Amino acid sequence: MTTPAVEYDPYDYALDENPHPVWKRLRDEQPLYYNEQYDFYALSRYRDVLDASLDHETYSSGRGTVIEMMDAPLADPPMIFMDPPRHTSFRKLVSKTFTPRRIAALEPRIRALCAGYLDPLQGEECFDYLVEFGAKLPVMVISSLLGVPESDQDQLRIWSDMTLHREPGETGPSQESLDANREIALYWRDQIEEKRRQPVDDILSDLVTADVELPGEAPRPLTKREAVAFCFLISNAGNETVARFLGWAATLLARFPAERAKLVANPDLIPNAVEEILRYEAPSPIQARWVTRDVELHGKRLPRDSKVALLTASANRDEREFPDSDRFDVTREIRQHLSLGFGIHFCLGASLARMEARVALEETLRRFPTWEVDESGLEMVHTSTVRGYAKVAIRPGA
Ligand code: HEM
Repeated sequence: MTTPAVEYDPYDYALDENPHPVWKRLRDEQPLYYNEQYDFYALSRYRDVLDASLDHETYSSGRGTVIEMMDAPLADPPMIFMDPPRHTSFRKLVSKTFTPRRIAALEPRIRALCAGYLDPLQGEECFDYLVEFGAKLPVMVISSLLGVPESDQDQLRIWSDMTLHREPGETGPSQESLDANREIALYWRDQIEEKRRQPVDDILSDLVTADVELPGEAPRPLTKREAVAFCFLISNAGNETVARFLGWAATLLARFPAERAKLVANPDLIPNAVEEILRYEAPSPIQARWVTRDVELHGKRLPRDSKVALLTASANRDEREFPDSDRFDVTREIRQHLSLGFGIHFCLGASLARMEARVALEETLRRFPTWEVDESGLEMVHTSTVRGYAKVAIRPGA
């Protein structure tokens, strides 16, 4: 009997629960995989994903980075869906506002938010770590980052929750979700006007008062539309990913209690544990690209004008790069995982994400040194851009 050729369907919810065995087979048997049904290629080995992330001329983001969106690219794309030189101009503008001083200044606010959510949960027999904490924290942090007044942050978080609303059986956004999205856009427009009128020392003020230097154009401020798009990009990129990270953290540390005990005994290991959690279960597991020229890989042709999925989460488990790669080890020496991307689109919020993850784990472990996860109650989020849990019920003290 021969084993059937490996198939990888990124839209298969059952497979999404644990795609690692399939990704391992792709790495071993079909490092350049082609999926006929959805007409895309996939790279799953560390070296290939890294090389492709570094070669933005061959592997373009210009038609988007989500497979099912590439046939009808957006007319007005966000920076993450751009190539140089436009990407370079926008990235330069926004990078200047993400100063290390501003990111570091957020740490006390993040700690206070953690205390505000976690303190009332102490003494509870069981609670949902994501619903009560992990999904709330990132939205509040992004609002703080952009300079939204604290009195408005909870309203933005409520709208942001509503944007995720789906009617039962529907995959598209509900009316409630579209309405909430509109409220958020209007809110950003007001904030942008306000910060243009009266700039203060925050990221949004800098973003809307600086000039962007686009090729062939005189330097000019962002249009209101472009500025709103930036607010959405930063919120979308920073909310869902950190929430998924916290879901993985709660689950993995419960599945590997000896690793968790090391962090409780020695919190200095937490920054490295953050990297290991990111490596082990990438919150954003797939980055797609458009291939702009024929490429020879593993004796096969990756043709020009095709879609290719860079399987970041598989690359992070490639045993060619990470010895004993399926072992979860908070003391592992990690040279470079790919969960925050690589190359020109490397995560703009990486240092914030790392700090937020570290502070959230420090504050969690200080209050709850042990917990058990109700594995049967875990619920996955199924979107094209993130992989992880929406619900993680935990029982502290177990
Ligand atoms: C654990 C949390 C996070 C993960 C796993 C993550 C992951 C990623 C990845 C993989 C990319 C590269 C996408 C590509 O190559 O196509 C990226 C880009 C980006 N991330 Fe993050 N991210 C996280 C948190 C954040 C936060 C907190 C922010 C905002 C403050 C943020 C803002 C961005 C932006 C704006 C880009 C686009 C950069 C560009 O196109 O030049 N991310 N992120």
